[in-house]
Amino acid sequence: MNLTSTSLAVSGLLILLTAQPADADPLAPTGRWTAPVYHSLKAPPMGWNSWNAFATDIDEKKVMGSAQALVSSGLAGLGYVYVNLDDGWWAKRRAGDARMQVRADAFPSAAEAGPDGTSFKPFVDQLHRMGLKAGIYSDIGRNSCSQVFSPLGSPGLPVGSLAEREVGLFGHVDADIRAYFKDWGFDYIKVDACGLADYSPRQQRVQSGQYRNFEPILFRGRPTLNQNQRIRQLYQEVGAAMAKYRPQQDYVLSICSWGQGDSRQWGKAVGNTWRTSDDLYPKWERMLHAFDSTATRAMYSRVGAWNDPDMLFIGAGDFDLAHLSEARTHFTLWAMVNAPLLIGYDLRQTPKELMDIWSNADVIALDQDPLGNQAVLAYRSNDVNILVKSLTNGRKAVALFNRSSSPFEVTLTAAQLKLTDEAPVTLRDLWSKQDLAPFTGETKLRLAPHESRVFTAQGQRRLPEGLYLSEMTGQINVAEDGISTAEPDPELYRASSWSRTTGPGEWPTYTGWGGAQADASPYSTGLAIGGHDFDYGIGILANSRIEIKSDRKFSTFRAEAGVDNATRDRASSVRFLVYGDGKLLASTRAVKFGDQPVVIEANVLGVLVIELIALRASPRGDAAVAWGNARLISGSPRTL
Ligand code: GAL
Repeated sequence: MNLTSTSLAVSGLLILLTAQPADADPLAPTGRWTAPVYHSLKAPPMGWNSWNAFATDIDEKKVMGSAQALVSSGLAGLGYVYVNLDDGWWAKRRAGDARMQVRADAFPSAAEAGPDGTSFKPFVDQLHRMGLKAGIYSDIGRNSCSQVFSPLGSPGLPVGSLAEREVGLFGHVDADIRAYFKDWGFDYIKVDACGLADYSPRQQRVQSGQYRNFEPILFRGRPTLNQNQRIRQLYQEVGAAMAKYRPQQDYVLSICSWGQGDSRQWGKAVGNTWRTSDDLYPKWERMLHAFDSTATRAMYSRVGAWNDPDMLFIGAGDFDLAHLSEARTHFTLWAMVNAPLLIGYDLRQTPKELMDIWSNADVIALDQDPLGNQAVLAYRSNDVNILVKSLTNGRKAVALFNRSSSPFEVTLTAAQLKLTDEAPVTLRDLWSKQDLAPFTGETKLRLAPHESRVFTAQGQRRLPEGLYLSEMTGQINVAEDGISTAEPDPELYRASSWSRTTGPGEWPTYTGWGGAQADASPYSTGLAIGGHDFDYGIGILANSRIEIKSDRKFSTFRAEAGVDNATRDRASSVRFLVYGDGKLLASTRAVKFGDQPVVIEANVLGVLVIELIALRASPRGDAAVAWGNARLISGSPRTL
């Protein structure tokens, strides 16, 4: 049963208080939005990247050919403007002044004579003249991924002495970022992490003296050994250098530590996109794996900071011309979770069927919606997911995703869309462009194996003059999520990595388990306090602080709060507090596992930033809490 504020027998206290001074508690309210704001970065980056099409075998002809195709096909006009070089562009780090050199044999326009040797400036200028943006690639360690994983003799492997082949950022952040962003004019950098993981003395290429030892601080598959703080700090140095050389912050920092080092937790504070899993490759099961690594992380994404389940692999393997249904599913899901949309295909020869997928403007608009609300899982099972995305002007999009290889009849309910059962709901299919007959309450839709159907939906909102917080995650910053020990997330589809079955199995390796979730508990169960279930709300651990950009648009905050039944810690008691621009507006008494929900309500009229704090009384424990039905009410629906 769904709990509404009117049906609730209130067992808690409603207290409206005047301001109290903040104490020294790290969970103390700041009275402001503390997450970085990137004014010129309004939506997830879209464009093209060389890796999935060419690996390290890149050259100017291939890249410029795809760049030209972006323009001539109209894709650039739809938003695909980043042209990103991946691994393989570098010749070496020049002896003496350590200036990075480009492979001029592959990129002839870089063969500028002059004190800097080669330069990517002409290449970047050309892309800019075409109305495009330019992306470059590096590694956070001393050496890159291809240097350890690509077969010896592959094109694009750096040359020269051992020191000259140390092309990564480690020890060179300032000079390299200056060269890439100030001198050459790049707009985007993807920073990989093999240099932190794969250059141990045990590595065969290190043993043979090809590369210098780098004692690993990132251990794939062994997340408890990862030095998360150190990894985060290294990426933070890159972000700081970018801000220094491009103070207008018109750049993208793409963190590529494959969900390792706890980047699923801190990526939002450090960069603009962060990979949430290991590499996608064109296998259906890998797609499930990558999608799952992002799908539960809506609370960690917002405008300017997006989860990255990896680049598109449309056109290859299980997403090729013979699998267009799967290809459309891949594209739909990436758009629903606000993933970067980076095409990984040689665009110089593009079949129309693929072009039709990338250029579906209605689906692109979901990804690029300015509110930046990542879709929330409204239904979860091993076979089917229903994802609901809140769009500008109170509109909704819903994707029904058949994960299985059998046909499936899916029931979609108005409640999943946060629409009422009383009024008809209309659905417009964004692939077929058909309007469906309106339904009331629920409807049944058939999905072919691996098919996704995606619709915009209109009906009568359950909350006509307000928003559930789970409808506005793009305006929320989870400043503290209460996780004290980074634990791997066991909920992801475990695909056999690289299709091998050696070793004991695919253990969960991406930390973030217990993180904040929209419409679910931190442990991916339905929100529940005492005997009450909540379809809507925020699940999070105690000792957490959430910032909400309310921008004076709302008058009241209201929730039914308590310790969630999914809690591991049944002993701790928790208090809930609501602050507005730093002032305490409301709080509850301490509640514990098994207690009934308590109503907490606050007048937030004129408030810019609301903070929700759940405070645990005891020093230890992992109390999971629910802000059931957490919502903001405004005086007028027009202000949504
Ligand atoms: C991987 C990365 C890929 C690609 C590759 C290049 O670590 O995840 O996207 O950049 O390195 O070697």
